[in-house]
Amino acid sequence: MISEKVQKAINDQINAELWSAYMYLSMSAYFQNEGFAGFANWMRIQFEEEKMHALKFFDYVNERGGKIELQPIDKVPHTWKDAADAFRETYKHEQVVTALIYGVMDVAIAEKDYATQSFLKWFIDEQVEEEASASDILTRIEMINGNGNGLFMLDRELLTRTLDPIE
Ligand code: FEO
Repeated sequence: MISEKVQKAINDQINAELWSAYMYLSMSAYFQNEGFAGFANWMRIQFEEEKMHALKFFDYVNERGGKIELQPIDKVPHTWKDAADAFRETYKHEQVVTALIYGVMDVAIAEKDYATQSFLKWFIDEQVEEEASASDILTRIEMINGNGNGLFMLDRELLTRTLDPIE
């Protein structure tokens, strides 16, 4: 069984992951409209990853005999100033998600729920990667500093991103 508090924390996290998915889908549409197919692809893969994160939590609650309570997904922004602005927000958002996952871990520790603590380790490691990849692309965009050639090359590179399955 899973305690009410852990169940609530994970249900909230499912909502946060789905909100993230929704925001990255919105960013994908933004980049598509701006003519950046590679940035749009990167964001679309990010959308798929966030859905997988939500489902990993979803399956875990079910596996522990808990109850899923899906909540409304808040509205997401739909426009950004430029690529740097969107990736700045992406990086900031991933830092927020990391803090949220730490918050779920705090609840699991307080509830002496060792299984959930072990399960959450995957997300803690994943967040290191999530922050690093957003920060890496942001740094490169800032270095390019609006140069058309540089943006074109980076956009082409991001077109090659594919979805990695998660265990
Ligand atoms: Fe599900 Fe990007 O963290």
